[in-house]
Formats: sequence, structure tokens, C-alpha cells
Amino acid sequence: MTSAPHTATTPNDEVPPDNPLTTKEGWGAFVRHAPEPPMLLTADELVALSPRRRSAYDEMRRDYHSDLPLVNTPTIHRVISTGRLLVQLNRRQISARRGAIISGASGTGKTTALTQLGRAHELAIRKRHPDDKTRLPVIYVTVPPAATSRMLAVEFARFLGLEFTSRYNLTDITNAVCSVAAHTHVDLVLVDEIHNISLATRTGAEVSDQLKYFAERLPATFIYAGVEVEAQGLFAGARGRQIAGRFTVVPTTAFAYGTSEQRDAWHSLIATLETTLRLQHHAPGTLAGLAEYLYRRSGGMIGSLSQLIRGAAILAIEDGAEKITREHLDLVPVDYAAQTTYTASTSRRRHGDQPASAEVV
Ligand SMILES: Nc1ncnc2c1ncn2[C@@H]1O[C@H](COP(=O)(O)OP(=O)(O)OP(=O)(O)O)[C@@H](O)[C@H]1O
Ligand SMILES: [Mg+2]
Repeated sequence: MTSAPHTATTPNDEVPPDNPLTTKEGWGAFVRHAPEPPMLLTADELVALSPRRRSAYDEMRRDYHSDLPLVNTPTIHRVISTGRLLVQLNRRQISARRGAIISGASGTGKTTALTQLGRAHELAIRKRHPDDKTRLPVIYVTVPPAATSRMLAVEFARFLGLEFTSRYNLTDITNAVCSVAAHTHVDLVLVDEIHNISLATRTGAEVSDQLKYFAERLPATFIYAGVEVEAQGLFAGARGRQIAGRFTVVPTTAFAYGTSEQRDAWHSLIATLETTLRLQHHAPGTLAGLAEYLYRRSGGMIGSLSQLIRGAAILAIEDGAEKITREHLDLVPVDYAAQTTYTASTSRRRHGDQPASAEVV
């Protein structure tokens, strides 16, 4: 699964393909985008539609269901509250600022939570400084696979719209990034796919040092996200111990289905997702009856659950049923991890997320 830009929140009509989330233009469009659920027509209004208008109405709803609004899960809540508190705490610190690392399996919503934190922070800053259009409060970058320190610095530069030919060395790029970041008041730096840094290799250690150098030079809070970073050795050795001493880990897990509390949390998640559907005949509460089936298919992973529900909704519009049935869900493919998780999940059931409630973001 890719990290950025994920389909659930990226407005396809506003961001051309060469403007991903990892550029200030793509990021800005993502922050401004607030998806509006379409209005459902009544039965009479539907009958009155010409075939062309009916097909446009269906097409618009298929689009909407491919990109449903996000649910405010405990992961999103935890990442936003931790991140915003750290920004506050770090504001007057001149060095040794604290950060956080979002760590968990693929498809548990790390990138979603990271980008929602960035969005919430940027909206708050823009509200506080409505006339300052030059501000760029947030930088969002991903660590490329097999990255070198120069490649990482170029990612920062690319976000800010700075281009460098091979004539420029790492110091030139780093200095330019730090200068622009200072002028634009960057105070939150989000670094995704951090598992691409391996401290066990010399190049990986150099990338980690480059990141640390940015963290020292930029008066900003750094939040990382990556796949099970503890297991990847990010906290090992002298470099790792320093990271461990400065960063809080926010774990992301699959939802669990063992205790009645955990089942209630799963039901609440499904019910919230169900409220976002815009199908003509779908009765609210139908998906609650399929909660166990949905758990089995998704392995409790929010990414797979979302894929199942979005896919089934699109199929229900295409075949005219206009409500999600078990048959629709059967037809939606899920990822290999979700397929195989259910068998392994019984041993893990007592350790998953336990949301108190779920609501649409
Ligand atoms: N809170 C949410 N509400 C609804 N859907 C969500 C939510 N969080 C994640 N998803 C869905 O799950 C999918 C996977 O999420 P995301 O990309 O954030 O996971 P990830 O942990 O970053 O995965 P990877 O490690 O593979 O990068 C998203 O595309 C989105 O559709
Ligand atoms: Mg990701």
C-alpha cells in the first residue's frame, strides 16, 4: 500500500497527478478540501430524471463512494491530540524538541492519521493568521526506498518548490530548505514511510543523521510514521537510543473482536461508516447484522473494511440494488494481509483498539 496521497482524502479534481501530497500545492489542496456528501433524491425526483441526468447522478455517487469521508477513529484522535500538544510544548524549546512516531502494521491508518494531524494543525494556524498567505505551517515528506541523505533533503526541497541540479551539494540543499522553512514559519514536519531508513546500513544511518540535523535546525515538531518501526531496529544502537529518548510511540493496531467492549467498538465503527453511505434503499443498521462477517473479511483493519464497504456501495449503485448486501461484499477483493489475519487474530483479540465512539471527521 502506498503512503501518500491516499484516495480517501485526496480531491482528484483539484490536484493534477503531478501535484502529490508531497508538494506544497498538493498538500494545500488536501488541506482545503472538505468533502460534501451528495444529497439523495426522492423516489419521485429520481423517476423524473432523464437517462443522461440519471447516469450523471449515479456517476457522481460512485465517485463519492470511492472516497468516503474519514471516521474519527481512536488512532486519529490520539495522533492529533499528541501531535498538537507536542507542538505547544516545543514552541519555546531551542533544542531537544520532542516528537512522536506512529508505528503499526500496513493498512492500520498511519498515513491517514499523520495527514489528518497536519491538516488540523494547518487549519488552526491559518485561522490564527488569516492574512498571512506566505505561511507554510506543515511539511509532509515520505522517505524514498533505499534513500540517501541527499535524496531525503531533495524531498524536503521538492515539497517547498525548490529545485536543484546535481551541481548543488547536500549542504546547499539543506541550507536552502532551512532558510525557506524559517521564512514560511514551518512548525510541524511530517515524515512518512520512516521504515525505509535502516540504521543497520551506513546509508540508512546517514539518512537518520540528516533527519536529525533537520530536526535540530528547524524550529518545528517532527512526527514520523512507519511500519512497525520498533521491530525494524529504529531504536537500536547509540543513534536509536537517542531517538527513543526523544520520541513517543503512538501504536496503530487492527480493531479487535474478543470482548463485548471490543465488539461494541467494531459495531460503532461500522455504524458510523454506514451513515456516510448515499444509497437510495440502504436501511441504516443493515451492516450491523454483517459485523462478524466484515470482521472476518477485513481482519479488523480499517483500510480493508473501508475498501469492502466502498466497493460494495459502488457495486450496489451499478446493479441498481441501491443497498449493500452480503453478495456485494463477497465480490469485493481485499488485500492478502486482511485475508490471512482472521486466522491469526484469535490470539491477538484482547489487544486491539477500543474506541469509545466513532464519528465522521
Ligand atoms: N479513520 C479512517 N476512516 C476511514 N477510512 C480510513 C481511516 N483510516 C484509514 N482509512 C482507510 O484505510 C486505508 C489505509 O490507510 P492508511 O494508508 O492511512 O494506512 P497505513 O497504515 O499508512 O498503511 P501503509 O503502512 O501501507 O502505508 C486508507 O486508504 C483509507 O481508505
Ligand atoms: Mg502509510
